[in-house]
Amino acid sequence: MKIKSILTFLLSVFCLSVSAQTVYSARSEADINMKVEELLAKMTLEEKTGQMNQLSFYDGKDVEKQFLQPLRNGAIGSLLNVENVEMLNRLQKIAVEESRLGIPLLFGRDIIHGYRTIFPVPLGQAATFDPALAEAGARAAAVEARSVGIRWTFAPMLDISRDPRWGRIAESFGEDPYLGGTMGAAMVRGFQGYSLTDENSLAACLKHFAGYGAAEGGRDYNSTNIPPALMRNVYLPPFEMALKAGAQTVMTSFNDNDGIPSSANSYLLKDLLRNEWKFDGFVVSDWASMDEMIAHGFAKDGKHVAELSANAGLDMEMVSRTYIRFLPELVREGKVSMETIDNAVRNILRVKLRLGLFENPYAPAQSIAYTDESLKLARRAAVESAVLLKNAGNILPLKEDVKIALIGPMAHAPHDQLGTWSFDGEKEKTVTPLRALQTEYTHVKYVYEAGLAYSRDLNAGNFAKAKAAAADADVAVVVLGEEAILSGEAHSLSSLNPVGRQSELLSAVKSAGKPVIMAVMAGRPLTIERNLHDADAVLYCFHPGTMGGVALFDLIFGKENPSGKLPVTMLREVGQAPMYYNHNNTGRPAPDNPVTLEHIPLEAGQTSLGNTSYYLDSGRDPLFPFGYGLSYSAFEYSDLSLSANSISKTDSLKVSFTLTNTGKIKGVEVAQLYVRDLVGSIARPVRELKGFQRVSLDAGQSKTVEFRIAANDLAFYGSDLKRKTEPGEFTLWVGGNSNATLNANFTVEE
Ligand code: BGC
Repeated sequence: MKIKSILTFLLSVFCLSVSAQTVYSARSEADINMKVEELLAKMTLEEKTGQMNQLSFYDGKDVEKQFLQPLRNGAIGSLLNVENVEMLNRLQKIAVEESRLGIPLLFGRDIIHGYRTIFPVPLGQAATFDPALAEAGARAAAVEARSVGIRWTFAPMLDISRDPRWGRIAESFGEDPYLGGTMGAAMVRGFQGYSLTDENSLAACLKHFAGYGAAEGGRDYNSTNIPPALMRNVYLPPFEMALKAGAQTVMTSFNDNDGIPSSANSYLLKDLLRNEWKFDGFVVSDWASMDEMIAHGFAKDGKHVAELSANAGLDMEMVSRTYIRFLPELVREGKVSMETIDNAVRNILRVKLRLGLFENPYAPAQSIAYTDESLKLARRAAVESAVLLKNAGNILPLKEDVKIALIGPMAHAPHDQLGTWSFDGEKEKTVTPLRALQTEYTHVKYVYEAGLAYSRDLNAGNFAKAKAAAADADVAVVVLGEEAILSGEAHSLSSLNPVGRQSELLSAVKSAGKPVIMAVMAGRPLTIERNLHDADAVLYCFHPGTMGGVALFDLIFGKENPSGKLPVTMLREVGQAPMYYNHNNTGRPAPDNPVTLEHIPLEAGQTSLGNTSYYLDSGRDPLFPFGYGLSYSAFEYSDLSLSANSISKTDSLKVSFTLTNTGKIKGVEVAQLYVRDLVGSIARPVRELKGFQRVSLDAGQSKTVEFRIAANDLAFYGSDLKRKTEPGEFTLWVGGNSNATLNANFTVEE
């Protein structure tokens, strides 16, 4: 790596965590706008619609006809999925030197959780509750991706996900708007850096706008039915937060909300994004999401699609070609105005200029991958994303002189450990748990017996060997989960139990009579209640990426202390979905121990007296609540105090409490602050996360932790869709998960 790159990298990794909004390119905004107008004045209508056209590249015999000639004609504005650097530079050269106006191409790719060095899936990164780390990870991904000419990533995904049946929950930051927005904004800062023209910066893309995560029944691409206030209070805040961090592009979602597909939703794209939020980057469709409006029954043909999307304010079409085919005709017919086209092109050119593409269009001579720094960051991220769910008798951490039986289909699954959307990750580089024992923890005695070849494997032929291996060892480490392909786009599930015969394998291992440590590598929170009985300790690792295996043993051997917390509610049964901590109360909230199936007398008479809202079979509660996660230390919250009992609408409140590590070793606790607005003009959630902090404490140490909440942080959108803080009484809680009990009340005055 060149000295300059090293310096830039270090600067970005270590300083970016405190960065504010992206500073734009070396050109001033005035200069950029002048250049945009200059270009626009020279462009033909066809060249304009060319800028609005994004195609997915494939290198076949048709490359001349499909890509090179259209490029010369100025008919392509952006390409995604150009995997080869030489080809990328060749395509760019044609755009720059052989097209009439020489407007450079913008190359995009899904850099979702790393480019070569793969970080934990975003859901795992959310479990770190560590925005600075997510920012540094995104920066490392940008360094690698940028070194092969990629200038734009389709990330972060900000879809609030309350339903683990939806495979794309893996790509999300989970169920909470505040956590999602905080992590999303951090990633935007990481991708975009201090300056978009920086040699290591990528433009970020906030997706999927909007509401996609609420797909009915968790079935991908499905309709959503999100009423306006819920949309404002839950689904949109992460987008607003990440836009404030300077995100340059936004992607529309596949779903129709209440009948309107996002790619033609002018309320979202114009009223909200442009007029209210003052967004001045550009909007891209999702992959063929425009054309799919025909299947939705919203547009009658391709021409109608182009008309609807252009007039709704969608600037660039991904893959389907309705803009390039029909927009010129629609303009001539007066169905789409030239002003609409010009505005879209302005938005696109502005971003290209901000990225410094005109000055620096090509990929650099040398690619960067797997630097010590990025591997170190990926290891840290994998450590922090693991959530300790159980640790009976403090079996963990283990001493390094024990003999381990390493078992399970994910104990050595170099491809699957990387998780969904890791196109460019290389499994040869994956440090699986097995490789960690072979290369790093080489002094540890172990025997490896997979038991099952892969997560869906139905062949129990090796269970006896796995059990024998456990019997012959001091402790079994069983790594279960999901193959990468079982979560992610279009991979919804209607059962969330570990697939195949993994649960049976775990039981067989347990029957050997040795302590069992279960680790789960998965893209979603699986229903593992049954497995808890067969495991003495459980570490939930999500898909942890390149360094996941060594991070797992860092935790198992106590070189690191677990600090991850669940970014989603973990269900007992799939039938509980959707279940999330920040729900509204019903008129009949369930009591602590509601009547369950076995308590109902025979031939009980029908009655609604005393009935409450819960499931007779799986009860009221999830398996683990949002925010939950154990540590090898123990933490106590005490002495909660507020700076005032009552604040005005312009005031803020200082919340302080003592956090003590009552354990025997140093640890980090993610302290969480929740609030409830007791009476609202629309019913308010039972709790909402309003702040969190990672607090590091030595054994026995106490610290005073402070949060500040402004009255403005308590604002919400009521049925009039105006954002306001309503006066009245509030309860706040501080603690280590969303069931925190230490609380105090305060009032916001009229
Ligand atoms: C996904 C997007 C992704 C795009 C480009 C679509 O299928 O929904 O999230 O960015 O493809 O690969």
